[in-house]
Amino acid sequence: MKVKLNDRLLAVSNFVEEEKAIIDVGCDHALLSIYLVQNKKPKKVIASDIKEGPLVHAKENIKKYQLENQISVKLGPGIETIEDDIDTIVISGMGGLNMIGILKYQKDLYRNVNTIILSPNSDTSQVRKEICKLGFYIEKEALVKEKHIIYPVIRFQRGKRKYHESDYLYGPILQANKDSLFLEYLNLEKVKKEKLLSLLPKKYFHKRKQLKKELKMISHCL
Ligand SMILES: C[S@@+](CC[C@H](N)C(=O)[O-])C[C@H]1O[C@@H](n2cnc3c(N)ncnc32)[C@H](O)[C@@H]1O
Repeated sequence: MKVKLNDRLLAVSNFVEEEKAIIDVGCDHALLSIYLVQNKKPKKVIASDIKEGPLVHAKENIKKYQLENQISVKLGPGIETIEDDIDTIVISGMGGLNMIGILKYQKDLYRNVNTIILSPNSDTSQVRKEICKLGFYIEKEALVKEKHIIYPVIRFQRGKRKYHESDYLYGPILQANKDSLFLEYLNLEKVKKEKLLSLLPKKYFHKRKQLKKELKMISHCL
């Protein structure tokens, strides 16, 4: 029996290459881990979560798909549960600042990892900037719409590239591709930022200046 993923998790899984050794951090139900075993011939999969509750659910699902021998379920914060041969970290469905915290403060734990795939719920520009500061570059990006919300998926590879502020803000690859979902996303951002600017009192000089700069970058992209 094959597991079915929603569009968001399917977009994340599309960024995982075949035959990798993967840790799925914040696995919750472990549906992504299950899908990866069924479709991506991984060398190894660790499904990890900080809480016991989700892992009970994860174990039930793994048992249902009879994959107990192919997925290790581990309890621990962030990537504390990683093993030396893991080459790919996947984190999806949590806030961007949480992701940054995990990757910044557990940096010594993933020296052998070359690929990080992230799909944050928030703070995407900070995610791009901070993960690049850790010695990675943005190799691949996509947007996916799930229940009226547009989520980014970003694949980072170890290495260095030069970026401008607008690359962190709206994604270098998304901007180059300019697909219809990206234009929809930019238009939504424009409306949000214009509204915020109209409501923000003049005394918030710095924030107003930042918003105007971001609106200019959006007009440039559109
Ligand atoms: C909303 S679920 C996302 C599940 C799945 N990754 C997805 O994209 O659908 C977030 C999961 O991340 C876990 N989590 C949150 N912070 C974590 C951390 N610092 N380390 C590990 N797991 C964490 C939560 O316990 C929860 O199960």
